[in-house]
Amino acid sequence: MAEELIIAPSLSKQARYNTLLPQLEALLADETDLIANLSNIAAALKQTMNFFWVGFYIVKENQLVLGPFQGPIACTRINFGKGVCGASWKEKRTILVPNVDEFPGHIACSSASKSEIVLPAFTAHGDVALVLDVDSDQLNDFDEQDQHALEIVMRLVERSLNK
Ligand code: SME
Repeated sequence: MAEELIIAPSLSKQARYNTLLPQLEALLADETDLIANLSNIAAALKQTMNFFWVGFYIVKENQLVLGPFQGPIACTRINFGKGVCGASWKEKRTILVPNVDEFPGHIACSSASKSEIVLPAFTAHGDVALVLDVDSDQLNDFDEQDQHALEIVMRLVERSLNK
């Protein structure tokens, strides 16, 4: 496909996800390189959803290491079970945090972050390979619509992982 997303900024959140997801699928279909695909996903999500920070942390040995992202500079390494990202890795599930100040052990890469959602992607063996972290500078900014759409994105990531 052409390297340009077609998304009308005036659309509702759900409509923006609905137009983004098939374009993302097409964008990833012909590329096998994981970092290239994660980079385009981060850029596409930032451009379409205007997230404050969106990016990946990749499991490397016993840590999560910062991968492709869009937004302000961020912490580079997160330990197993630490912060929202480490908890998502440990618990192997999506974690939605309406108010980061109320999440025990939240890692504040930016004092501007107020709410976040973290989703894991799995290897063919069922291990967490990486997580997607999305941060907002507004409280309570993520809901089931975001969770559902971003979980579809993670299934696309898994196709790229397991190619
Ligand atoms: N807040 C995350 C750390 C990553 S940054 O927000 C980009 C956490 O608690 O895991």
